[in-house]
Amino acid sequence: MKGKGFRKLVLEFENFHHAEFYREVDSTNLKLLEWLKTEPERADVIIAATQTKGRGRRENIWFSPKGGLWLSARIPYFDFGKHLSVLNILCGLSCVKACNSIINEMNMSLAKTFLRWPNDLILLDRKLGGLLIEIKTVGRFVKSIVLGVGINVNQKTLPAQIKKQAISLMIATKKRFSRYDLMLRILKELDMMICGFKEKGTEDMAADWKSVSYEIGRRVEIVTGKGRKTRGKVVGIGRSGELLLIDDNTDTKRIFQGFGLKLLDK
Ligand code: BTN
Repeated sequence: MKGKGFRKLVLEFENFHHAEFYREVDSTNLKLLEWLKTEPERADVIIAATQTKGRGRRENIWFSPKGGLWLSARIPYFDFGKHLSVLNILCGLSCVKACNSIINEMNMSLAKTFLRWPNDLILLDRKLGGLLIEIKTVGRFVKSIVLGVGINVNQKTLPAQIKKQAISLMIATKKRFSRYDLMLRILKELDMMICGFKEKGTEDMAADWKSVSYEIGRRVEIVTGKGRKTRGKVVGIGRSGELLLIDDNTDTKRIFQGFGLKLLDK
């Protein structure tokens, strides 16, 4: 990162203490994972104005031009239960709440952000952002958890490859947003989520999720294990963050991992 100017910031959250801002990095997730290995006390949040090798879920490239919010935060390890799905949902909920609070403050409450299972941020039926959670284990033990958040904020246009399915806050509302403010709101929500989980576990998770779920009550198709497609009506999420579907035979299906969720009754 030589010559790619950076700034440090002291944070006053219970779980996040030091952030570093960069003009350009390869990937904020990669940088933070590297630091956790070599300099574990260095920082628990990293933000970059652009990423040259932004990474998305399932090995996808994540376009990270200027104008977006590209950040990674170290999530302190505590037992999220058996399934990573809980972590996906809780982090997704924190980001949706942060986006909606900043949108509401701009008097743009008609533009509401939804959560598409497990953790895509959806605005006006297009992808506003996504989360990439990476976990390093040593043997059977979780060593570190890095949450990467990518949100399209002030971009006036998006790359041709993603233009049809993606959106930015600027494109949706014609307003500029402070990425710094959005970052602080995300960290505040994550901080409260971590404290809340320690205290009450997943008690409020399903209700919170229902209020911002993109697909609740809708018929969907989702690609699950080995490329198999499962269809059904979404009725909620379970205690482990799994998606609950009622299929055409009225059987309840619990989906722990899946992608490419499509609405069938648009
Ligand atoms: C997705 O595919 O929906 C997840 C995208 C996650 C992108 C963010 S941007 C900041 C962090 N650094 C990365 O390389 N990826 C994540």
